[in-house]
Amino acid sequence: MIPISRLAASVKPSATLAAGAKAKALKSSGVKVYDFALGEPDFDTPLHIQKAAAEAASRGETHYTPVNGIPELKTAICQWYSQYHGFTCKPEQVIVSNGAKQSIHNALAAVCDPGDEVIIPTPYWVSYSDLVSMTGAIPKLVTTTAEASFKITPAQLKEALSPKTKIFMINSPCNPTGITYTREELAALAEVLLPTNVTILSDEIYEQLTYDGVNPTCFATLKPELQDRTITVSGASKSYAMTGWRMGWAVAPKHVVDAMGTIQGQETSCPSSISQHALLAALSGPQDCVAQMREEFRKRRDFVCEKLAEIAGITFPKPNGAFYVFFNVQAFFNRQFGNTFVTDSLSFCNACLEQAHVSLVAGSAFGQEGYARMSYASSIEELAGGIAALKKWLQG
Ligand SMILES: Cc1ncc(COP(=O)(O)O)c(C=O)c1O
Repeated sequence: MIPISRLAASVKPSATLAAGAKAKALKSSGVKVYDFALGEPDFDTPLHIQKAAAEAASRGETHYTPVNGIPELKTAICQWYSQYHGFTCKPEQVIVSNGAKQSIHNALAAVCDPGDEVIIPTPYWVSYSDLVSMTGAIPKLVTTTAEASFKITPAQLKEALSPKTKIFMINSPCNPTGITYTREELAALAEVLLPTNVTILSDEIYEQLTYDGVNPTCFATLKPELQDRTITVSGASKSYAMTGWRMGWAVAPKHVVDAMGTIQGQETSCPSSISQHALLAALSGPQDCVAQMREEFRKRRDFVCEKLAEIAGITFPKPNGAFYVFFNVQAFFNRQFGNTFVTDSLSFCNACLEQAHVSLVAGSAFGQEGYARMSYASSIEELAGGIAALKKWLQG
């Protein structure tokens, strides 16, 4: 038998992908499942983006590209930051990857040494802690509270800092909570980091999906002194409904981008050539598709919040970004549901899938016991059916 490495054995499979797979298995046995586990827009990639990719393929853009991405795309990313955030960066500071996930991996691998600490506000996106651990660094989880809308406070950040802290990771709007930090809140965190030499890794992948007039903040624009210590990550998966195209990017000081490029070159040579042309069309083409999807998500957010609030025992801070609601399910612990005695978020979600046929992700996967995450990237009809099934199950 081929032995499995310590690295592979220590990595947990992605909990959201695992929850999605369970729901799929149930579906394939003929059961109607309300699948709210995956963080994936249900929209098709806008047509003009698909067309640009098809044209690129027929033009013969099917070869390896420069490791860090094609020059015209890196320029388009800089123009997008300038227009969207008033952030000035140069193409040599940009690296395009096969998804934001690869950008985060590249960034951590380029900066962290074994034993370094990486501060992660909790709840956090499922992959953060494993991506950190894979570099030999240590995730330092800082638990936030629903009362604070799951935002890390400057005092908590200060307390978590140690001589070993290498990176502070921040994700706003946040997966799984759907909460967006205000500019002032982020500036207060930046203030704590100013006198240190800690690097900031800001995952802004949901930046185009905010509601209620909330503006997303690009962390790198907060303080000029922090720009050369900030790595900004984003991508096309969520805003342009492009999950399968695997397009993400990072903007960072040139020497960091060069190091990330060396790692990427050995791992995947370059990002997909055809997808890069699709991303170029996404960023430089008409943006009304984003506005339409954002408005649709906003309607669904309102609907889901209204319906969930009608279920006794469920509470949550109202999300104002991304497409998730992270709700408290502790009122249902230590209770019998069918043949399951629910004791924690995982047993709650397993029973919910098996008995109500509603697929959610347990809060424990995001480092926060007592909660469940629901993605509302589904049609209103699906959401209505799923929440009704959840309500019926919970209220017996
Ligand atoms: C917070 C966050 N960051 C990064 C990603 C990775 O996105 P992708 O690799 O599809 O670009 C996701 C996807 O779910 C996410 O939720």
